Order: sequence, then structure tokens, then C-alpha cells
Amino acid sequence: MSVLAIDAGTTGVTALVVTDNGQIESMGYEEFRQHFPSPGWVEHNPEDIWQATLSACSAALSRASGSPACVGLTNQRETAVLWDRRTLAAPCRAIVWQDRRTAEMCGRLRDAGHEARVSELTGLRLDPYFTASKLAWLAEHEEGVWEGVETGNVAVGTVDSYLIARLTGGARHVTDPSNASRTLLYGLASGTWEPELCELFGVPEHALPEIVPNYGPIGFTEPSAFLGLELPISGVAGDQQAALFGQTCFDVGDVKCTYGTGSFVLANLGGEIVRSEEGLLTTVAWQTPSGERTFALEGSIFVTGAAVQWLRDGLGLIGTASESEALARTVPDSGGVVFVPALTGLGAPHWDPHARGLITGITRGTTRAHLVRATLEAIAFEVRDVVEAMTGGAVPVLKADGGASTNDLLMQLQADQLGAAVERPALQETTALGAAFLAGLGAGVWGSKSDLRKTWQLERRFVPGARDDAAYARWRAAVELASYHPS
Ligand code: G3P
Repeated sequence: MSVLAIDAGTTGVTALVVTDNGQIESMGYEEFRQHFPSPGWVEHNPEDIWQATLSACSAALSRASGSPACVGLTNQRETAVLWDRRTLAAPCRAIVWQDRRTAEMCGRLRDAGHEARVSELTGLRLDPYFTASKLAWLAEHEEGVWEGVETGNVAVGTVDSYLIARLTGGARHVTDPSNASRTLLYGLASGTWEPELCELFGVPEHALPEIVPNYGPIGFTEPSAFLGLELPISGVAGDQQAALFGQTCFDVGDVKCTYGTGSFVLANLGGEIVRSEEGLLTTVAWQTPSGERTFALEGSIFVTGAAVQWLRDGLGLIGTASESEALARTVPDSGGVVFVPALTGLGAPHWDPHARGLITGITRGTTRAHLVRATLEAIAFEVRDVVEAMTGGAVPVLKADGGASTNDLLMQLQADQLGAAVERPALQETTALGAAFLAGLGAGVWGSKSDLRKTWQLERRFVPGARDDAAYARWRAAVELASYHPS
């Protein structure tokens, strides 16, 4: 038996066929276009995400031996999507989680005294990162489209709900608690949409999806829409929560970090809603079909792998992201250079949407190797900032995954900076694997979480060595300088 897992990420869609012993049988991947219409704005055409989903799934399925038993979905979170309920066409582009256009709006709401109540209800903060202010922006600037939202012709959702609508030919308009808990409209304690928040952001509750558990019966793919296949959709989760699940972080205190465009550190909180005073978010990890919810503490770092991409595309310092490791290894350290990659503001634990990147400590002897090494160090420092905010010290072990986790130097720097072991699993497609696990649990491919745990295999353990605290102190000082206030 196998499961088709779809990971609809920020830059592309990955599809995996996962066998019941937790191995990847086949894979497909399709990138889609990014739109940057103004500084700080990031948009996607929802149709592009759907077409990429079809291509990736078709490629994965054509290389697999049999038909999968079910489908699991995971997705970039927070991105706001609108679509016509009848035609399923999107009347405007989606506003992506990275988009900062609502920074002023969030500032106004903060000045009006709403932050404490919003945080109390949602576990989040008033930051442009989350969905609600993006929807409020659409209501203000896409009046004709928003009329459709008010009348019920246009559906509101995140990428999970949009793709489920497409997969089911419009039969289902649903989301799950892990995605809902990123919108600023979902009550952490109540487990439902909060009327008070819907009113604050001007989003009619009837336009929002139904919230369903993370696994169990969700819907069926419509053959005329989805490659001629009628398959049960039985698992869905936001990508970071799916990675926590895919890493089998099932126990309280288990921590993972996914190193992608950004990096996201999540710690399992069990059934307790623990709030952070240190700039972390409280979010839903997953909900069982019987309604039992597991929560997570999250440190969302917006730019990590994207900083390496900027070295490649913005500065032309390297030809490929994978060159960064070999080049960084040509120098013993960054030579005192510190790079704060606040390229889209700063997320956890600093939360400054206006912050800008900076490079300090440059001398006549600085080379591109120093700058590349400083970039890898920055990723390790950013994750250390978040882990310290989370635990007050080191974690016992950090489970690492995502594209940049293949960089051995970065993993070693991370272990050194945390003073804790970093474990990398044999399968690094942990996000898609999490979606496969959820769907497989929902459809009976696996019977329990302990069956899933048996499939997790360690590839390499990075043991902490000497820690460069002076470099970390320089980093902390440089972060202080990153705030930027537009006049
Ligand atoms: O919160 C944003 C996150 O879900 C995006 O993840 O991997 O698509 O960059 P990714």
C-alpha cells in the first residue's frame, strides 16, 4: 500500500508516493512563478499552484508501481487565497506569507490597543505574516471581488483549502486546525473561528472554510479535475506542523527545525497551551479525529536559505546554493564579518517588520568566502536565538530537515552554537512525509503513531564541539542595528 503526499511549498510543489514502510517510491516536483509587484510584496497566481500540483502528482504517479490508497496534503501557510465557488477560478492573486504590505495596517491596530487581545485569542501577534491583515487588504483594494466574498460567491482560505477545493472539484471548502491557527482568526482555546477577530479584520465568517481534524475522511478527489483518479483525501496540515509530524516529534519537548527559504523551529507542547513571553508563537500542531489537539511553540525565522539564494542571485557571489559549503570551508571562520539577513524584516524572536539586512565587520582582507561563511553562521545564530527563547538554554536534541540541512558545515555550526546534538534523518523530505503519515493514519495504512516511529531512521548525528560565544555576541550586537524606520 502507498500514499500520495502533496507538499505545496512557497516556490514549488513536491509530490511523493510513500510506501507503507515509510520509503519514498517516486517523486515529482514543479516550480511556479513568484510575483514581486512592489518592494516587500509577494504574490502567487493560485492557478499556477494548482497546475504545478497536477504536474508534480502526475510525474510522481507515473513512476510509481500501483495506485495509492489515499492522498495527504501539506502547504505553505498563512498565504491568503480567494476563489470563485462555482468556477474555482481565482479572481486575484494570492498574497503570500512573506508579503509585508500590511505592516502599517498592523501598526495601526497595535496603536489602537488590539495586540494584547489578538495574542490572547490566537497565540500569534499583530504581524503582516499572518492571513487576516492580508484579507483586510484585499477587502479594501479589491472591492468588486470582496463583494463576492460578502455575498457568498467567493470563498476565502489558505493554500490547503484552495487545493482541496480544486482536488474535490469544488465539493469541499475545508481547512485544518494547524492552518487555521495561522490566520489570526482562529481561537486557540475555543478551537473555532472567533467572531470578534472576524469583525476586527472585516472577514465574514460564512466565507471561511469548515475546520476539520488533521486526519480522517476529508473528501474525495474528483476524477475529472484530478488525473482521472478518485482517491480519499485523508490528511492535511500546514507544512511546519507536517514536518514536526514527519520527524515523529510526538512527545512533549521534542523539537525540530526545518531549514528552507526560512527556518521554522517547533517544539511539541502536548495538550497544553503554553504562551511565550519571548517572542514565540503558540500554534496548533494537529488534531485527532476525536478532537484531541496537540499544540506547539514555534519560532518562525523568515530568511535563512533565502539569504544563500541572495548571495547567488542578488550578489552573484556563488553559482549554486550547494557551493556555499565548500567555499565557507576554505576559511576557518568569518573573520569577524557578521551578516544579519533581515531581508524581509525580522520574525521570531525579534518581530520587526521594518528591519533591514546588514553586514558588519568588513576589512580589507574580507573575501567572498568570509561572507558566505558569515551567512551560514547567521542561520545557526538565528536558530540559536529562537531555541534559547524557547527553552532558556539548549535543547536535548534538535531534529533537522529541509533543503539546507544537507549542508554538513551548517549542521555542525548549529550543534556547536546550540551546545546540543543535531540529528538528521535518512529521509529529508520530512514535510511531505508528515502529510503522508497523516493521510495514512486517516485511511488505515498505518494503525498508530508508534508504527510511524518505527519508520524514522537517523542518517547522521552532529555532536556539539567548541562554541564561539564571541561570534554570537557580535551577532547579537549586529541584530540590534537592523531596525530601520522609513521616514
Ligand atoms: O509559515 C510559512 C511556511 O509555511 C512556509 O514554508 O517551506 O513553503 O517556505 P516553505
